[in-house]
Parts: sequence; C-alpha cells; structure tokens
Amino acid sequence: MRSSLPIYILLLGLALGTTKADDNPCQDVGLAGFVCLNCTTLGYCIRDGTGKWETKSMLDCQSEHNFFCSDEGTFGCTWQSQCKVPKRGPFHCQQEGSFPDPYDCRRYHKCSDQSVDSPHICSNGAGYSTLTDSCVLPRESEQCTEEQFSCSRSGQVGGWTADNRYFYVCIDDTESSLYPVMMKCREGYVFNGYSCVPESALKNLDGSLQEEESSKCVDKTRYECPFRTSEIQYCKCVDGEQQVITCPSGFHFDTRIMTCVSERIHQCKDFEVLNCPNVIAKNEYCICIEQQLQIYDCPKGHYFNAENLLCQEE
Ligand SMILES: *[C@@H]1O[C@H](CO)[C@@H](O)[C@H](O)[C@H]1NC(C)=O
Repeated sequence: MRSSLPIYILLLGLALGTTKADDNPCQDVGLAGFVCLNCTTLGYCIRDGTGKWETKSMLDCQSEHNFFCSDEGTFGCTWQSQCKVPKRGPFHCQQEGSFPDPYDCRRYHKCSDQSVDSPHICSNGAGYSTLTDSCVLPRESEQCTEEQFSCSRSGQVGGWTADNRYFYVCIDDTESSLYPVMMKCREGYVFNGYSCVPESALKNLDGSLQEEESSKCVDKTRYECPFRTSEIQYCKCVDGEQQVITCPSGFHFDTRIMTCVSERIHQCKDFEVLNCPNVIAKNEYCICIEQQLQIYDCPKGHYFNAENLLCQEE
C-alpha cells in the first residue's frame, strides 16, 4: 500500500543554474571583485566573454592557525577568533522588489518585474536593512551574525524575523540541495508564520504582534498558497506546518472550491464517486461534478477503499 502523502518540490518556475553551486561560487555571488568563497579561500569573481561567471581562487588561509578569509575592508587572511564568512547559496528572483540576501547581510538583490536579479553589496561595510532600504545594519546585529533561515525540507516556509513583510520557502533542487527562496507579501500584508494576512489582522488591542499564537497552522484543509505558485499547486497544513502540494497529473487547483479539479471528461455522471486517476494519497477520492473530477478527503482516520468506493476506517 502507498504510504503517506508525498510532498512535492516547489519549483515556482525557477530558472535554475546549471553548475553545482559549490563548483562556481561566483555564480551565486554575481558581483565582480574579491570575495571569500569560504573560510579558507579568497576568490575573485569575474565574467568571461560570454557573460558567465568564473570563480578564481586567489589565496588559501591557514585556518588551523585561526587565519580566516576576510573580504571586509582588507582582502586576505586575517586572524579571527572564529570564521565569519557566511555560507553561500543560490538566489533566484521571484517577485519584483528589493530582497535581503538570505546568506550574507551585506548583500541584497533588486529584482526586476522580469525576475532579473541585480545583486548589490553595501559598500560601507554595514548590513542591508529592508526596513529602510539602505545599508544601516550594524555588523554585530543578529541579522549579520546568525543565519536567518532554517531549511530542513522542501516546501517548508518561514518568516523573515527582521521584517515580517518577507518570508522564505525552502526549495530542494538537485543542483544545490536545500535553499531558501525569498518572497514578500503583497502591499499591506504581513507574514504570520504560515501565510500573508492583512497587517491589521496581526495586531491585537495593544498593538503588539501575536506571533506566537499564529505561528502554527491548524487548518487541515487545502487552501491557496499565500505566495505565487503554479495553478497546479496548493497549500495544506500538515502537523502544524504549511506544505506546498501539487495536484495529481491532469488536475489543477480550483481556488473557488479549494480542491484539485480535473479537466473535463465525458464518461461520468454528476455526484458519482470514483477512484481519482493519478492520486497518490490513500485518503483521497473523486466526485464527478459537471463532467469534472473533484478531489475530496475521507474523514480523519479513514482511507478510500478503491474496490467498494467507500471511506473506511484504517
Ligand atoms: C573553499 O572553496 C574553494 C574554492 O571554491 C574549494 O576549492 C575548497 O575546497 C573550499 N574549502 C572548503 C573547506 O570547503
């Protein structure tokens, strides 16, 4: 028997790079000049004649003697009590606007309406703040010293602590494994832990934010994802976490009835209960309505018996 609901990879129509991130870090950095590729290597990023990024390793630091790469002020190996070079990863624009770089607080990205990324780096050595859209964050601030995202599985969603208009979705692609894709709620909306809600909805009487209470989702039903996805994807709360799920092949998500609906078919009668084609979850069944199949769930603790077409206790 097929087991639990598989969670599909959320791809959001990403233009994924073709080189593994670690082989060519400059592809992720996207700015010419010196950069610490990791704790031990100072590199130089340069574009070749065809516009592709090339990574040149310039210098190796003796990390066993606490000399780590530095690209702040001085370029080279400096003595540091601990390495401060951030982990790097890919960045893909999803929406128009300014976005913080999830890895390096000094970096930010201006995304065009065509989803073209212009990477920027603060030239004054400070960190970029989305709140002021300028380089004013002290380098000692938490945003600069600690990783601001946590990705343990694909489809995972988290808020951007420093600015609740932003959130991220963890994406798993075979090229660079798990990484966060930065997103922003539309104007007037803020992220409450699992979806974008009107700003006013998040304030209680004394005006403070109710993050604790709303950070877990509880709704078990399907709903429209709070961020842009394709029309074959929807969101669902599973064990208190929002997950992005793809409709079975041949189905798309209908936001009016909040379920996956098939293309028109000819051979079913209204309100006929059927096995859904291509369905993977064992508790789902289909009902024919106006020549379309709509997916429904058996009650909790039940599965759909494909032979007698009934929901039965597990
Ligand atoms: C650091 O980056 C360089 C160049 O990309 C690579 O050759 C080296 O293996 C990396 N070192 C570590 C410890 O990851």
